[in-house]
Amino acid sequence: MSVLVTGGTGYIGSHTIVELLNAGEKVIIIDNFSNSKPEVLDKIKEITKKNVVFYKINYLDEKEMQKVFEENPDIEVVINFAGFKAVGESVQKPLEYYHNNVTGALILLQMMKKYHVKKFVFSSSATVYGEPEKIPLTEDCKVGGTTNPYGTSKLMIEQILQDLYHSDSSWDICILRYFNPVGSHESGLLGEEPQGIPNNLMPYIVRVASGTLKELSVFGNDYPTPDGTGVRDYIHVVDLAKGHLKAIEKLRKEEKGLYIYNLGTGTGYSVLDMVKAFERATNRKVPYKIVERRPGDIATCYADPTKAYEELGWRAEKTLEDMCQDAWRYIEKQTEK
Ligand code: UD1
Repeated sequence: MSVLVTGGTGYIGSHTIVELLNAGEKVIIIDNFSNSKPEVLDKIKEITKKNVVFYKINYLDEKEMQKVFEENPDIEVVINFAGFKAVGESVQKPLEYYHNNVTGALILLQMMKKYHVKKFVFSSSATVYGEPEKIPLTEDCKVGGTTNPYGTSKLMIEQILQDLYHSDSSWDICILRYFNPVGSHESGLLGEEPQGIPNNLMPYIVRVASGTLKELSVFGNDYPTPDGTGVRDYIHVVDLAKGHLKAIEKLRKEEKGLYIYNLGTGTGYSVLDMVKAFERATNRKVPYKIVERRPGDIATCYADPTKAYEELGWRAEKTLEDMCQDAWRYIEKQTEK
């Protein structure tokens, strides 16, 4: 049986592929390299010494998608990482974001239905909670109030999955709500490579430490948090990747369902905590200045990950120091080239 992974050469996708291959799974990847590079496939092979089946296609291309399902009758489960994810860009290009993320998911699900593949793992985000109803966030907290088309596209797909499951309970679906994924594979071979100037905190810190960017702008220090800067639940991408294996295990069990899990550590760190932790872990300086709040940001967001532990037997194991050191190792390897 194989696992079909869309967006498998992206940041979270590639780390998940490594864990799947290490666990002995047979993997088929679909990607069009819209936000990744073909070299990622070589790195995956270098780390795991294993082969994958790869299709360079856009998951919106129904004809090509059909070919994948025709040629691989042993697909058992699909993990969907394909999707655009830049929050700011989604505000500028809502139609492109809704089309790529929502239409893409619809095409994928229709294809799965046609070929009787009904196990689906979906990459969602803590962003679906909007302004948190309570902290820490549990899976039954209200969702909605997303502030950008990227976040709304995640919410829409969650709704589509709920409706699909209610219409036909032979589907077996796992929605994973990621908190803030950071870090890289410990080999330094895989990592996060945002195009242009990064929007997210950790990629920005790393580029300031390497001298590519001058200083970090800390977006506001007047939030109701211990040091006034925003608090988030940063999770090592390899821990996150392992959560997908546990999700598949759950879907392989007898009873069917639609399950939702928070994938976070349960601990919140502020922007300044992150700067200090990074400086300590890497011995590099990260100059920063305090600037205005960023529109759409919330003060505090972290998970209650108890449900994932109780039902999947998953919990994050890596430390903040690992997250910082591994993020840095990837950049060091890149500059060695
Ligand atoms: C953001 C997205 C979220 C998405 C997630 C992906 C927004 C509003 N939310 O979450 O939808 O799922 O990325 O990982 O964009 N910060 C700075 N300076 C910077 C960058 C960030 O001070 O240059 C601060 C932010 O104000 C925030 C924290 O760092 O307090 C984390 O920011 P970021 O990494 O962008 O993640 P989120 O905003 O939590």
